Amino acid sequence: MKGLILSGGAGTRLRPITHTSAKQLVPVANKPVLFYGLEALRAAGIVDVGIVVGETHAEIEAAVGDGARFGLRVTYIPQEAPLGLAHAVLISEPYLGDSPFVMYLGDNLLKEGVTRFVERFAESGPDALILLQQVTDPSSYGIAELDPDGRVARLVEKPKEPRSDLALVGVYLFTPAVFESVKTISPSSRNELEITDAIQHMIDRGLRVESHRVTGWWKDTGKLEDMLEANRLILGTIESDVRGELHQTTIEGAVSIGADSVLERCTVRGPAVIGERCVLRDTFIGPYTAISDGVTIEEAEIEHSIVLANSRISRLGARMTDSLIGRDCVIARSDGRPVAYRFMVGDSSQIGIL
Ligand code: TTP
Repeated sequence: MKGLILSGGAGTRLRPITHTSAKQLVPVANKPVLFYGLEALRAAGIVDVGIVVGETHAEIEAAVGDGARFGLRVTYIPQEAPLGLAHAVLISEPYLGDSPFVMYLGDNLLKEGVTRFVERFAESGPDALILLQQVTDPSSYGIAELDPDGRVARLVEKPKEPRSDLALVGVYLFTPAVFESVKTISPSSRNELEITDAIQHMIDRGLRVESHRVTGWWKDTGKLEDMLEANRLILGTIESDVRGELHQTTIEGAVSIGADSVLERCTVRGPAVIGERCVLRDTFIGPYTAISDGVTIEEAEIEHSIVLANSRISRLGARMTDSLIGRDCVIARSDGRPVAYRFMVGDSSQIGIL
């Protein structure tokens, strides 16, 4: 069995972060989202993994390399444009050949990994196995309708009047029978080859498409709120590991602090993770916060937020919460006149002020 991780795409919902970097590399609890997927495939016994890449291919390749550090053999599959999940499957046929495969969306996180689904696929031998989870807002998802015997009868992309609340999770298992379907379907109204249409085509051809309910949490990190929630879920599982230097600093709960970081007169209330080479002074870090490497924070209070590498935050004047700050950003009080906000903000940014 091979793995296929989709790590191209436009990432419009995570702008401006995705103007400059791949959304699959945004860290959750200080580890890129994509790495959780790679580790889940390896844990399921998969060694050969193709990664579909788009415009951000150089950054993905720099982060993952040949895959050896994950115990994987990684092959990159360039996609000329984000033409849909089924298009990613179509262009991967030469790599996948006649091997069955797990397709994993590179911005998705599953608590339980994929091992059980790979085992179920091997035992049951369907043409496709899709994973489903109950959701409260089915009109935002690809939705599956099941027969009384539990077989998948119909798939609908973001239905206006949903007849089921079972959403497709971003992990799919296929035999090579899927290739005929991805070659036959036409692009949707948003001009993408939809994986739901390809699976529906398999059902209509009389192939066996089975489903499996995901019981643990599943998160698609494509939007800010979901990214923060994924961060919260993963931070909820960390253990304390303090390597940096602490001076007059209080640590409460599960907190990880990387090597060569220095905290002076701070309180860190976990679960929280602080990377390497950070400098924090007179600062409160609250629960569910992830601070990447090389960040400097002075006289600030931050909680339920993600701060990426080498940013600098000082003297905010109010607590910062529910925020995602990119790399190399500066948020600081300025003492100059006139007393005013001074911004240099990238396209599609969002700032909430007091
Ligand atoms: P999506 O989140 O559905 O699409 P997107 O990345 O274009 O994001 P947005 O809707 O915010 O613009 O994609 C799911 C995953 O699949 C994600 O990791 C990107 C990847 N992908 C590809 O590799 N190729 C594609 O053609 C598409 C549509 C997505």
